[in-house]
Amino acid sequence: MSMKIIQVKDYEELCQKAAQILLQRVKDNRRLRLGLATGGTPVGVYRNMVQDHLDHGTSYREIQTFNLDEYLGLAPDHPQSYHAYMEEHLFRWVDLQPNKTHIPDGKAADPEAECRRYEEMIQQQGGIDLQLLGIGVNGHIGFNEPGTPFDSTTRVVQLAESTRRANARFFSEQEEVPTHAITMGIGTIMKSREILLLASGTSKAPVMRSMLQQEVSEQLPASVLKRHPRAQVIADQDALSLV
Ligand code: GLP
Repeated sequence: MSMKIIQVKDYEELCQKAAQILLQRVKDNRRLRLGLATGGTPVGVYRNMVQDHLDHGTSYREIQTFNLDEYLGLAPDHPQSYHAYMEEHLFRWVDLQPNKTHIPDGKAADPEAECRRYEEMIQQQGGIDLQLLGIGVNGHIGFNEPGTPFDSTTRVVQLAESTRRANARFFSEQEEVPTHAITMGIGTIMKSREILLLASGTSKAPVMRSMLQQEVSEQLPASVLKRHPRAQVIADQDALSLV
């Protein structure tokens, strides 16, 4: 297995390490095309980036960002949308240009057309240089649930019940969690030139063991990263406690 694993002590160190790698890429390439993730894990990474922007003025003016996914049916100003998440945790604090931040439109009149537009737009912009990823407890990446073909592209997907339960903590009621989403496909993610997957906490320990020890399988979407030439994992001791 060629995937590089960086083990860190805890969540704080994970966020510092991930931000350090991202910031290095931003400094090396002012026009970096950066793939972004949501969920609880990257929150502290974005906090470190914002702090660095305030302290050192690192500029994002020329950077393009591409988010992995968005809930279907949630407008950009819906508080639980991934648009709102990105605004709250990163976009409003740094000098990213609004026309250079891309997130699928969960309210598109024609979601299928929106998926095609999003996929084509990523490729037209030259593809993603560095994609940040979290991992679901069932091994999903983006919203690519177990069983997703490895050659999939951006499309509408139905969320697994375990994913809706895991994400219910961000909503006031479980029923409010959307049933569908738009997500980049596994094929889209695998085209990125570099990938950084983050995992923190004991809830991720079983899936990290499976990902690292089992064969590559469509039943465990994150396992495909072992086939990527430049995929790294940053995980804390809790997430690696069963490995
Ligand atoms: C969501 C997102 C994923 C994310 C996963 C894990 O379902 N669509 O991109 O990686 O949750 O989230 P967390 O970091 O909160 O555990």
